[in-house]
Amino acid sequence: MTGSAAAGAGIRNGAAAAPVIAIDGPTASGKGEIARRVAQLLGWHYLDSGALYRVTALAALRAGIALDDEGGLAALARELPVSFAGERILLGGQDVGDHIRRQEVGSAASQIATIGAVREALGVLQRGFRRWPGLVADGRDMGTVVFPDADLKVFLTASVDCRARRRHKQLIEKGFSANLPSLLQELCERDARDTNRALAPLRSAQEALVVDSTQMTIEEVLERIVQEHRRRNG
Ligand code: CDP
Repeated sequence: MTGSAAAGAGIRNGAAAAPVIAIDGPTASGKGEIARRVAQLLGWHYLDSGALYRVTALAALRAGIALDDEGGLAALARELPVSFAGERILLGGQDVGDHIRRQEVGSAASQIATIGAVREALGVLQRGFRRWPGLVADGRDMGTVVFPDADLKVFLTASVDCRARRRHKQLIEKGFSANLPSLLQELCERDARDTNRALAPLRSAQEALVVDSTQMTIEEVLERIVQEHRRRNG
């Protein structure tokens, strides 16, 4: 799936815009896995908006652009040579799916995500994913900023310990070394940065369905969301 620029939400060019399910939440809350599976179940498109922040961060690290160089980062985000091939995410044609999951790339992503011009450029890219029959999008501001007219908004969370343990397991499974106490600390720092930033801070949309997955299995979370979607759509 490749993102092409498209105008904002709601009615576009006189035609009804495709429906959107927005799934937002803090780091390692399971949004990615859940959103991907909801999209699969419904046969809809899927957008991992965090991956775009991560790819921009990776490109900046590789190009030696400082993480506080707003002009350089904005230009990079506007010209980002990113594309999607099924589940694969490519930067300049190279599969970077595993590289962008590294801890330092996540941390850099949350730093550049505080820059307005970067968010604007990636927002254009993100709205381009809204296509029929529908889109499931996960991130921090999908329901609050990028798709404010989303048909269903979910705020997925879990306790910080639970999220650190899940992220630790995920990194180990991918063959990366990971240390639980340092992960926990990094997660708390990222939560604080994402929640307290001035632009598009992490928060639950007022009308969002809040799901705390601390004591739930992936299947239970999935069922809760799909049930709510079906209830609203008859
Ligand atoms: O997987 P994880 O939840 O750790 O992070 P991610 O969703 O891949 O996003 C990485 C970083 O990008 C986050 O810490 C946010 O700072 C930023 N981000 C954002 O600002 N807005 C989004 N819609 C998605 C991600």
